[in-house]
Amino acid sequence: MRLLVTGGAGFIGSNFVRYVLAEHADCAVVNLDKLTYAGNLENLRDVEADPRYRFVRGDVAAPADVERAVQAAREAFGGLDAVVHFAAESHVDRSIEDPQVFVRTNVLGTQVLLDAARRHAVGRFLQVSTDEVYGSLGEGDAPWTEDSPPAPNSPYAASKAAADLLARACGRTYGLPVLITRCSNNYGPYQFPEKLIPLAVTNALAGEEVPVYGDGRHVRDWIHVEDHCRAVDLVLRRGRPGEVYNVGGENEARNIDVVRAVLRELGLPDEPGTPGCPIRFVADRPGHDRRYAMSSDRLRRELGWRRRWAFADGLRQTVRWYLDNRAWWERVRSGEHRAFRERTVGGR
Ligand code: NAD
Ligand code: TYD
Repeated sequence: MRLLVTGGAGFIGSNFVRYVLAEHADCAVVNLDKLTYAGNLENLRDVEADPRYRFVRGDVAAPADVERAVQAAREAFGGLDAVVHFAAESHVDRSIEDPQVFVRTNVLGTQVLLDAARRHAVGRFLQVSTDEVYGSLGEGDAPWTEDSPPAPNSPYAASKAAADLLARACGRTYGLPVLITRCSNNYGPYQFPEKLIPLAVTNALAGEEVPVYGDGRHVRDWIHVEDHCRAVDLVLRRGRPGEVYNVGGENEARNIDVVRAVLRELGLPDEPGTPGCPIRFVADRPGHDRRYAMSSDRLRRELGWRRRWAFADGLRQTVRWYLDNRAWWERVRSGEHRAFRERTVGGR
């Protein structure tokens, strides 16, 4: 399969590129990425010399850039079989500060890619989406299924929901074979340290406070990035066009418990308020979703997917990765990221 992967220099995209090249000898990848603050070619050092891999720097919302990527696939591999669309602005806190870039990349960018996929008669288009499009659950509510209606609460979630609906419409109206995956919170190697788990690890290692929003009892469903990548690959190859597939981690946990588990892995005091414990409760995120939980029954039943990582093992492996790759996160934590944190959480 010859793939156009967008956002392949980001956290999940880079894990996916590495995964498919290792898993499928007959797979080729063109990676189209704008290299925003979240994109980092270092994430793909180990595959960049692979003859089955090409990188194109460009913006998914710019039709000429997308066309260049399609041509690169034609020249290098003789054509394109599928698009796997990861590229996005992905951080809720940033979307609260500046929603417009989320609309441009996540909404317009998706439409530009769908138009290109149609023009070039691409065989599959996989839209990588999130459980956040479903909104927020209360403690006792049943998990979402693929039939739950979109009810996004943050500008990020709204932009992803809009993109999902445009992808769906493109399938219905023009017959493009569109598939949508909606995954829960990922963690693992190469995650940008603006997200909770790598932020907690790197702040604690740098001797800084770990901010926990509100009462810390918000619940997320954590999945290891490799389990997500395997699900995307399965849906891409064997999923039914026109369908949505939820990908849940079956690991619901409260934020405070996740942060405490990270600190225990690092051998640091984890009881808030005790000497040496870096946890600091800060003002809540506006519109903060209380709980996410999904049923992955369709994915399990139709495609035989099972998660392989238990949370405790995955967290240990991830913390180990950050301990072993200090130079990587020290570089990405400087500059723009630091300025953003100081403007936002620093002021809470
Ligand atoms: P990320 O922020 O780590 O990476 C995003 C990548 O997209 C970066 O490499 C960035 O340079 C690139 N990019 C951004 N704007 C672009 C543009 N206009 N044109 C081309 N490239 C652009 O994000 P991630 O966490 O790897 O998430 C990837 C996808 O998975 C997103 O679509 C996100 O909505 C979805 N998702 C993420 C999670 C999660 O927990 N991280 C969960 C479910 C779904
Ligand atoms: P995040 O990793 O930003 O993912 P999302 O908002 O997409 O779920 O946040 C995960 C949870 O952790 C969310 O409930 C917000 C919370 N959080 C904190 O408490 N402190 C932090 O510094 C960050 C980044 C997140």
